[in-house]
Amino acid sequence: MSHEIITNPDANKEQKYITLIPQVDSLISDETDLIANLANISAVLKETFSWWWVGFYIVRNRELVLGPFQGPLACTRIGFGKGVCGTAWQLKQTMVVDDVNTFDGHIACSSASQSEIVVPIMKNNEVIAILDIDSEHLNHFDKIDQDYLENLAQIIAELF
Ligand code: SME
Repeated sequence: MSHEIITNPDANKEQKYITLIPQVDSLISDETDLIANLANISAVLKETFSWWWVGFYIVRNRELVLGPFQGPLACTRIGFGKGVCGTAWQLKQTMVVDDVNTFDGHIACSSASQSEIVVPIMKNNEVIAILDIDSEHLNHFDKIDQDYLENLAQIIAELF
């Protein structure tokens, strides 16, 4: 089934999340395939917020392996505790990095990336995947992003 996602380009960030999240919930309720759903979620987020890179890494055999994404070429595997993504996995918590150049161990898939938010997707208190978003601007992510993306991560967890 095809869907059209309706967002207002003039809305502020919080209004965009409020409009978008129920539509994502509806979008994925019509499809059972994990990859298809993650692919569409990354597309919808990229289109709505014009971030530099949006995508998923999925936990497979004690590594994060690149999943569906939108944006430039990315590294394919990240170890436990490595980079921002592996740290979010290890700590089981969202990482908001205002300036990736100051994050010890940051993995630079793209030199254009300046700030980053990584949200773990949890099931039964274990990280099963992570949502990673990069911006080419410093200080791009805040508590509003964190709150709404954590809400989205709970919806996404139901897909696994
Ligand atoms: N910067 C991430 C790696 C993934 S890319 O940004 C797509 C990190 O440090 O874990």
